[in-house]
Amino acid sequence: MPTGSPLRLSPSVLLSTAPDGYVAYDVRLDRLYRLNPTAALIVELCDGTRDLQQLQADLSPLMGDDWPGCLDWIATARRDQLLTEEHRTAAAPDAAALAAHADALQRRDRVLAAFLCQRRAVDLAPDDPDAWLRLGELAHIVGRRNEARIAYQHYLSQCPDDAEVEHLLTALTDAAPPTRVSDRCIEQLYSRFAAFYDENMTGELDYCAPERLHDATVAVLGTRADLDVLDLGCGTGLGGEQWRARAACLVGVDLSADMIARARTRGVYDRLETAEITGWLAKDMPERFDLVIACDTLIYFGDLAQVVEPAARVLKPGGLLAFSVERGDTDPFRLSDSGRFTHHPHHVSDVVRGAGLTLLGLSEPVVRHEYGEPVTALIAVCQA
Ligand SMILES: C[S@@+](CC[C@H](N)C(=O)[O-])C[C@H]1O[C@@H](n2cnc3c(N)ncnc32)[C@H](O)[C@@H]1O
Repeated sequence: MPTGSPLRLSPSVLLSTAPDGYVAYDVRLDRLYRLNPTAALIVELCDGTRDLQQLQADLSPLMGDDWPGCLDWIATARRDQLLTEEHRTAAAPDAAALAAHADALQRRDRVLAAFLCQRRAVDLAPDDPDAWLRLGELAHIVGRRNEARIAYQHYLSQCPDDAEVEHLLTALTDAAPPTRVSDRCIEQLYSRFAAFYDENMTGELDYCAPERLHDATVAVLGTRADLDVLDLGCGTGLGGEQWRARAACLVGVDLSADMIARARTRGVYDRLETAEITGWLAKDMPERFDLVIACDTLIYFGDLAQVVEPAARVLKPGGLLAFSVERGDTDPFRLSDSGRFTHHPHHVSDVVRGAGLTLLGLSEPVVRHEYGEPVTALIAVCQA
């Protein structure tokens, strides 16, 4: 191979460190490369100041006998246009083009490449809060916790009213978790989510917690019907739909006015109330229920006693409380990076016993997927 002119990284290649070397994404050729530590070192040295001879002089003391291996890799990298001798730099994409490319890549599940594009977009437009927010989201998805934290902090310094990002930052900074996710955060999250909740959950995420909760509860109820049912955190009414046929009266409570509006259009509830559930349960009300359900709602609470105890008080004698949470390995519970709490089975049994209820069943089905990974729930059915 001729020694030629100095080698440099192609201008369309975005580079980032990775646990075992580098990742490189070529925006122009739409190719992602994973570089091992040797390749990463070569790329670092190819900064436009060294030709092959100088590279050999600098690398040989480090690589010993393996210079031929390095030479092979450099030849491949030149063929792939990862490394170039070209001086002229083609017009690099601007921040808007990179951000649009990042969106398109994410839609194709190419999240690492999307993250690298968005990071360059932020370098080019550091005053744009939305660019920081997108970077935070993508860093979060690819598990770059520290970069997610920094990006969200930048965004929040410019948009301090964003309760969702404020909450995610709490999760990502390992700060003491709140007792429950703030009302402001829930309202903001579900106001945004309501319009595509059903489609996203039951389609893309394979959400089936309402069905699994229904199955687990019916296994105890048998053929009983004409029930007074309370649905805590009813959302758009996916759970209500399961229970309509067996309910004499079906009441739904949810903090999000937008979710309640969706539930109303479903037409399965006898009554819907927009309220925070612990506040609602604390009211001195005469109503008692045969069945209280809370499907995927208590994932926003740390200590489950906050809801299980007051919910137990509104059950008729022999009434059932059935709820689902996300299963976690940390006892009693943990605020995960997703911003939701996970709960340990011991905590569920302890809280149910503490509320004076009998735990009839505790199952662990997969109830949806998140970024392709199964999410395992704990489904508890307990009796007064
Ligand atoms: C994941 S959704 C589940 C909705 C429905 N149960 C289902 O299975 O489709 C969680 C719901 O809980 C509601 N929620 C969360 N925290 C709440 C609280 N403290 N008080 C009332 N509703 C709450 C949210 O507004 C949201 O509609």
